[in-house]
Amino acid sequence: MTHAGERSKEPALSDGSERVASGPTGEEIAFPEFSQEVKQVWNHNSSYWDGYMGEGNDFVEVLCWPAIQKLLNVQPGQSVLDIACGNGLTSRRLGRLGARVVAFDVAEEMVRFAQKRTTSSDGDISYLVHDANDARLIGLFGEASFDSALSNMALFDMAEIEPLFRNLARLLKPGGIFVFSMMHPCFNQAHSVPYCERAEIEGEEVTTFGVRVSGYMTPTMFKGRALAGQPLPQPYFHRPIHSILNVGLRAGFVLNGIEERAFPPTHPPGRREVSWGPNFSEIPPVIVFRLQRL
Ligand SMILES: C[S@@+](CC[C@H](N)C(=O)[O-])C[C@H]1O[C@@H](n2cnc3c(N)ncnc32)[C@H](O)[C@@H]1O
Repeated sequence: MTHAGERSKEPALSDGSERVASGPTGEEIAFPEFSQEVKQVWNHNSSYWDGYMGEGNDFVEVLCWPAIQKLLNVQPGQSVLDIACGNGLTSRRLGRLGARVVAFDVAEEMVRFAQKRTTSSDGDISYLVHDANDARLIGLFGEASFDSALSNMALFDMAEIEPLFRNLARLLKPGGIFVFSMMHPCFNQAHSVPYCERAEIEGEEVTTFGVRVSGYMTPTMFKGRALAGQPLPQPYFHRPIHSILNVGLRAGFVLNGIEERAFPPTHPPGRREVSWGPNFSEIPPVIVFRLQRL
């Protein structure tokens, strides 16, 4: 599984304990025992990530950002929180749209790269190091201090998400928007395997591309590489869609926007036949949600 289109499924993935189920009911979605490891791995991989991602890749340009722009609909002067900002690639895009951006990430090295890349032409952006699940965020900014919040491709990297939604319900103004994009939990996770099948039908060779899904309901930690060649595999946290949305609904949000994003059939092919790209134009690797605070 990668964000770069080349799926790295090597279950090498790490330490041999890549799949840790957290209960047959599918209700338990928190893995706090991995919080420290998340931070360590992202710090360790930060330079590789920054060099590879730069200001964005195909996943960002074609799948995430158009949906984010549509759902977030940022207006100049609005205050926007960029949660788990990484090297700040979305923070700068928001800043250039005229938003007043506060961006943070749990990994201090990622924030260092974000600061390094950001110039005054990117607009009004301040960065800090913080855990999205730490309630001290509220003391830092105050209740109802943001018009909207974004988290691009990060909720599956977070060991917990429930405290984040509770924090956001207080940090956002009434009516405030939270947009988050994710690898699609149905089609782009440890138990979904892309395939290419060739058959001869009535004398013609027919090629079919698809994704075989063997698991979905049980929240699971597994390890993988977001980017091909990334130094350390990182913990990922698979949660089914109902679990994620129910956390948001319980915290006082409603769902009022959703986009599922696939590469168009005209997109240039990836390095491998089974890379995310034009061969999978019917299968969305990314999903983007828009929640609104009541
Ligand atoms: C896949 S990167 C995405 C970065 C950025 N949003 C982007 O679009 O490039 C995921 C980021 O989530 C951060 N992260 C993971 N858990 C976090 C947490 N609990 N609080 C804040 N950031 C977290 C990681 O450090 C990493 O920078």
